[in-house]
Amino acid sequence: MIKHFAVIGNPVAHSKSPQIHLSFAEQTGLQIEYVRVLSPLDSFPQTVISLHQAGYSGANVTVPFKLEAFALANQLTERAMDAGAVNTLVFNANGIVGDNTDGAGLVQDIEKNIGVNFHSKRVLLIGAGGASEGVLHPILEQQPAMLIITNRTLDKALSMVKKVEEKGEFKFVSVNAYAFDDLQGQEFDIVINATSVGLTDTKLPLPEDIFAQNALAYDMMYGKETAFMSFAREHGAQIISDGLGMLVEQAAEAFYVWHGIRPHTGSVIASMKNL
Ligand code: ATR
Repeated sequence: MIKHFAVIGNPVAHSKSPQIHLSFAEQTGLQIEYVRVLSPLDSFPQTVISLHQAGYSGANVTVPFKLEAFALANQLTERAMDAGAVNTLVFNANGIVGDNTDGAGLVQDIEKNIGVNFHSKRVLLIGAGGASEGVLHPILEQQPAMLIITNRTLDKALSMVKKVEEKGEFKFVSVNAYAFDDLQGQEFDIVINATSVGLTDTKLPLPEDIFAQNALAYDMMYGKETAFMSFAREHGAQIISDGLGMLVEQAAEAFYVWHGIRPHTGSVIASMKNL
């Protein structure tokens, strides 16, 4: 029996999720249908409910609905609660389960595909919006030595740190919030850009000597070389990556949530790089 899935967004025409999930399905011999659904901005709940009622098994949620999906789900996984946002919905007889696979996707891409482990590393997370919140806990679970969140609006970074402290789970990781100006003199092994400046040419005000020897610079955006990636290339980062691998890995994690099968991602990432 064919199972039906969708990605819901606005806009959604650019979404690569159908292509990724259909590749996974082909690889694992599953029969699925996976479509893009453009939801009106003011009626996301109705869009989700109508898919549920039409017999869909689940959906991915993209911009700008991840917070609404969080509010709508009647059951949340722990990682969705940590992220405060939902990118994967599971429809079942009891209602709608909200999950978040973004952080797992980032960690998987950096650790398995790129081959850099977070353990004992000095990590700088740039940005304190939804994208940053979504990956914070999964990074901390890998036990870096320290993690600094920097953001144009410092208060948002401070409140992310406060939430981590309140949860009290990561006592062995030093977690702090710094303004961009206070990063002078600091070096990091892994620098992740989770701001939305990615595809614009806006330059983040980062000190030039921020990259430690062998540092990884990772931009969660994909599609072209970002200003952050060029900056990292010019200032000594050894490995520079965009977020295409994360995109495929978060999809693989959603595929696992829905089907209980972990697809291989390497060939899918490689084929998308060549598009
Ligand atoms: P997302 O869901 O993509 O994270 P968001 O919640 O709107 O989107 O967050 C956007 C992030 O990019 C924030 O960290 C934002 O900084 P502020 O909190 O100060 O707004 C950051 N950002 C966006 N434009 C920026 C710019 N021109 N310079 C620096 N940071 C920027």
